[in-house]
Amino acid sequence: MVDVVLGLQWGDEGKGKIVDVLTPEYDVVARFQGGPNAGHSLEFGGNKYVLNTIPSGIFHEHCINIIGNGVVVDPVQLKKEIEKASATGVDISKNLYISQKAHLILPTHRLVDAASEAKKGEHKVGSTLRGISPTYQDKIGRSGLRIGDILSPDFNKKYRNAANIHCELLNSLGFEYNLNDHEPAFFEAVEYIKQFKIINSEYFVNNLISQGKKILAEGAQGTLLDIDFGSYPFVTSSNTITGGACSGLGIAPQHIQKVYGIFKAYCTRVGNGPFPTEQENETGEMLRKLGHEFGATTGRPRRTGWLDLPTLRYAIMLNGVTDLICTKSDVLSGFEEVLVCDRYAINGQETNEIPFSLQDVNAEPLYRNFPGWTGDLSKIRTYSDLPETFRKYMSYVEGQIGVPVNVISVGPDREETIRR
Ligand code: IMP
Repeated sequence: MVDVVLGLQWGDEGKGKIVDVLTPEYDVVARFQGGPNAGHSLEFGGNKYVLNTIPSGIFHEHCINIIGNGVVVDPVQLKKEIEKASATGVDISKNLYISQKAHLILPTHRLVDAASEAKKGEHKVGSTLRGISPTYQDKIGRSGLRIGDILSPDFNKKYRNAANIHCELLNSLGFEYNLNDHEPAFFEAVEYIKQFKIINSEYFVNNLISQGKKILAEGAQGTLLDIDFGSYPFVTSSNTITGGACSGLGIAPQHIQKVYGIFKAYCTRVGNGPFPTEQENETGEMLRKLGHEFGATTGRPRRTGWLDLPTLRYAIMLNGVTDLICTKSDVLSGFEEVLVCDRYAINGQETNEIPFSLQDVNAEPLYRNFPGWTGDLSKIRTYSDLPETFRKYMSYVEGQIGVPVNVISVGPDREETIRR
């Protein structure tokens, strides 16, 4: 059976930690979309690790970790990540499996990403510049290269053909670049990853399901960055919703049981695009400071704001969430008042629905105010020990969205977790 864990907001909900906490219950963790635009942070034993492409189960010795066909892989990034994780004593070669159908991010994809964003000027998406969009464009355009291609004797030729097309585009955009700065590291990394298990992952995953193994499908980014349902065009280039786990791993929908949806007790966003509850003021500054809201991949300061229930309900609906997990509740400690947006006013009409284009309408958030709470929540392990004001706030949220919040994370460490 397969359970799915994914983010319900604009990414950075704390998925890495939650997957790490859930992993002891699973035999397998499999990433199904995205690429090194993700930055999944894990903390244990006083150390912090950031994973970009490797699934978050890698630090558990018993766990098989699969990079699925829906993921886009940059060999240079993956090599760096493997080397860092290996330095902690983990045997990556034993537990890491890479789908031969995962698409390759080429150095020229990264350059095209940079050139396209530069051309958009003030309308840029605010991409992580990891080559994600150009790689998925080539996948859909049927001209991409896949991990399996690196084992072909013709790989260099295939690479050159693809790179030439990208170079024509870069030249037409007047973008300056020097391939010699990028290609040696790329080919070195391609050779390096050949030593790992490159597999027909759809058969591998389905055999594991037949053997009764428990699989956790790990999403990246968040539902509001989904290519179909996110705030288009300010989105990433893959399906970040539960459906993405089927196409990104080759599993049939009936195998999916639980869907863990993760949301932060407030909202953040990196990059451009609509954000109705954004607080561009002292409150937002305080959320950023207390929540250490700086991108795990790019280091960019994250935009911050109050919890937004219309988008949360939308994300729960799209994903079929069965279990909710609330992270970073500890960050709200110390605010005199905590606000929750439970609906919008658009053109004088109150609504719970997300309009076609959030950026083209003025969706005014309508808030409910709750008295805040104080004190360090990170040492609390039992729900009933949490401040009463916090529990009132949480019951209101649960009542509004109709799904129980089963896990509350009160700090970055594995241990700082309350299960109900
Ligand atoms: P891309 O996925 O790098 O093309 O970036 C597209 C948009 O998604 C930008 O606004 C990025 O900031 C955002 N984004 C991509 N990956 C993540 C993530 O893992 N967390 C949060 N935002 C992300």
